[in-house]
Amino acid sequence: MAREIRLAKTGLDLPRNTSGNRKISWFNSTINDLSRVSSTGASPLFTRNMEHHSVYFITASELMKSRSNSLKLPTGSKALDAILHGGYREGSLTEISGPSGSGKTQLVHQACVNLLQFNLSTNAKFRALFIDTEGTFRPERLLQMAIANGMNVKNVLRDIIYARVYNFSHQIVVIEKARDIIKEQGVKLLVVDSIINHLRAEYGITGTQLVRRQQLLNVHLHQLLQLAGNFGMITIITNQVMVDLSGVAINKVKPVGGNIMAHGCAYRLMVGKNRGRSRVAELIHAPDLPQDRAIYYISEQGIRDSC
Ligand SMILES: Nc1ncnc2c1ncn2[C@@H]1O[C@H](COP(=O)(O)OP(=O)(O)OP(=O)(O)O)[C@@H](O)[C@H]1O
Ligand SMILES: [Mg+2]
Repeated sequence: MAREIRLAKTGLDLPRNTSGNRKISWFNSTINDLSRVSSTGASPLFTRNMEHHSVYFITASELMKSRSNSLKLPTGSKALDAILHGGYREGSLTEISGPSGSGKTQLVHQACVNLLQFNLSTNAKFRALFIDTEGTFRPERLLQMAIANGMNVKNVLRDIIYARVYNFSHQIVVIEKARDIIKEQGVKLLVVDSIINHLRAEYGITGTQLVRRQQLLNVHLHQLLQLAGNFGMITIITNQVMVDLSGVAINKVKPVGGNIMAHGCAYRLMVGKNRGRSRVAELIHAPDLPQDRAIYYISEQGIRDSC
């Protein structure tokens, strides 16, 4: 009874497939933690394991050395790689926001294929994990891109792991469960396409609903940040946009999620339609790169510099 009251308070539903005891007890404790998110935004979900964290200090030069060896995953377009100084980065979140049809899902499909291309050229054995909240993941498109890259497509789909997410509480559970898959399967690229779809559908944008939505988004982003940091993963999340009336936004739209998204994502790309098959990407924020813009194309072959 007490548990039901707590669940009702959180506004979250239990996931449908709750047959295993471990999942139920994990989910209950997660929901309890979520419902106790404090006014400062700190959640016990992410602080309860603190005693298991080792603390270590390194010099900036050691950090720079380790970062210089880090993988930068090419996007498919040299122009886009140039504004990212090489490609998508390990260990932090990259957001790709843009209107419907701007090419967000194409970019993350291409990132999966490019990771496997990297495997081929380096003998690495990395895998990609694609979390799909919108139902637009297409293995056929991956094959089309892989063939265009001249890859032997036999094993391409085997190295891309997929999970479909049906509501926001399910999304939280899937990401929590992903920890084991990431560890066991050597996942180097995590994609969430899109992060906001279910939150936007399940919560309003006024009053306590908006506060709750932002709290949950914050919790979810910290889940992802922790995974990206712990496993040194390239983590790309797509995001939708909303109309911006302030007059300063690109094409009169801005990413959904406000300051929570702005603080959680180290690299923020906004993409938009240009003429024909061309697209424009703007790097709107990065901790170490200037604002910049690139033109690229979505072709049958994938993300390219020309078409
Ligand atoms: N095989 C293909 N060849 C060429 N262009 C393609 C192909 N598949 C998709 N596209 C282009 O990509 C566009 C769809 O892009 P995408 O699905 O990535 O948009 P999105 O930004 O993810 O939109 P949403 O927000 O609705 O999910 C299509 O409108 C088309 O222009
Ligand atoms: Mg999409």
